[in-house]
Amino acid sequence: MSDGPYSVAVLIGSLRRDSLNRKMARALEGLAPSSLRLAEVPIGGLPLYNQDLEGATPAWVEFRDRIRAADAVLFVSPEYNRSIPGGLKNAIDVGSRPSGQSAFKGKPAAVISVSPGAIGGFHDHWITLFTTPASRRSHSGNRSPIWLGAAHSVGHAPMSICPLSM
Ligand SMILES: Cc1cc2nc3c(=O)[nH]c(=O)nc-3n(C[C@H](O)[C@H](O)[C@H](O)COP(=O)(O)O)c2cc1C
Repeated sequence: MSDGPYSVAVLIGSLRRDSLNRKMARALEGLAPSSLRLAEVPIGGLPLYNQDLEGATPAWVEFRDRIRAADAVLFVSPEYNRSIPGGLKNAIDVGSRPSGQSAFKGKPAAVISVSPGAIGGFHDHWITLFTTPASRRSHSGNRSPIWLGAAHSVGHAPMSICPLSM
C-alpha cells in the first residue's frame, strides 16, 4: 500500500464522451474523502493485445505501471451484449500479461455497472472474470446487486470486493 492517500485506479469501460459510466466515475472521484484518491487510467488508446508485440509497446508498459502503482482497482463499465466492452477486455488482457506478472494480481477490486436498462450489468460475467473459484465462494454472500440511481438510468453494482486472481 502507498504512503499517501489510498489510491484507486479507475478503469472506465465506455469510451464515449457522454458516457453514463464516466459520469458515475467522475461523481465518485468528487465524493471521495481526502484519504482516497480515485484516478482514471485511460484505456481507449491501448493497442490491441498481441503477444508478438511484448517488449515493443510502451503504452502497455505505462498502463501496467499505473495499475501496479495503485492500491486497488475500480471498474466502472457498461455491459455490452451481456459481456464486458471489448476495450475493457483488451485493457484487462494487457494488464494481466506477461504470464505470471499480472499488474492486477491480488489487488482489491470492485465493479460498478451503470445502464439505462432495468437489468443491465446484472450478470455474473464480472464475478467470473475477476475472481478465483475460492474467492467466488468466499464472497458469495456479497454478490447481490446494489441499485444506484444515476439520472434516468439504473445501475447495478455487483460489489464483491475481492482480490484479483488474473
Ligand atoms: C454495443 C452495445 C451493446 C450493449 N449491450 C448492452 C447489454 O448487454 N446490456 C445493457 O444493459 N445495455 C447494453 N447496451 C446499452 C448500454 O448500457 C448503454 O448504451 C449505456 O448507456 C452505455 O454506457 P455509457 O453510457 O457509459 O456509454 C449496449 C450498448 C452498446 C453500444
